[in-house]
Amino acid sequence: MAQDHIRVRGARTNNLRGADVDIPKRRLTVLSGVSGSGKSSLAFDTVAAESQRLLNATYPAFVQNLLPHLPRPDVDTLEGLSASIVVDQAPMGANPRSTVGTATDAWSLLRQLYATHGSPPVPGPHALSFNAAAGMCPDCEGTGRHAALDVDAVIDRSRSLNEAGRTPSS
Ligand SMILES: Nc1ncnc2c1ncn2[C@@H]1O[C@H](COP(=O)(O)OP(=O)(O)O)[C@@H](O)[C@H]1O
Ligand SMILES: [Mg+2]
Ligand SMILES: [Zn+2]
Repeated sequence: MAQDHIRVRGARTNNLRGADVDIPKRRLTVLSGVSGSGKSSLAFDTVAAESQRLLNATYPAFVQNLLPHLPRPDVDTLEGLSASIVVDQAPMGANPRSTVGTATDAWSLLRQLYATHGSPPVPGPHALSFNAAAGMCPDCEGTGRHAALDVDAVIDRSRSLNEAGRTPSS
């Protein structure tokens, strides 16, 4: 019988006190509540943690020895789990040169895919980097912003340094 819910019973991870939750599958579910109420404990430390632990247990023993040891989360039963993909809460740290690929790190998977299944056309070495500097604007180095120091805003050229020729002077 296909499970259409993830059934959590008696979750006691961190501050949870025996939480019973049915999470529908193939739907967008939002956990809301005040800070510290246990949203992350339920989603990451209980559901995703057990999903990852079960997945790791499917590998051969010698592979499992290379993986971090994950303890079983404190929960009575967890049913209907499938493989989970955790998107963490860290800021993406994107910069003006970021692409969807670099910001999500999907590009390493794409590179792997193309390296495995593509037929290399043997181009020059510059063609191998999508982030090549050729053609880049030298003023802003391709960021679209030019940062420079306005020296006259800092130094009063009519006075010597001994005469406190700095702005603001003090
Ligand atoms: N790794 C941990 N060890 C001990 N206590 C934790 C840990 N993670 C969270 N907590 C505590 O559990 C409670 C719920 O935290 P959390 O699940 O992060 O809440 P939320 O995501 O709703 O803000 C908080 O009191 C927090 O301090
Ligand atoms: Mg949280
Ligand atoms: Zn420029």
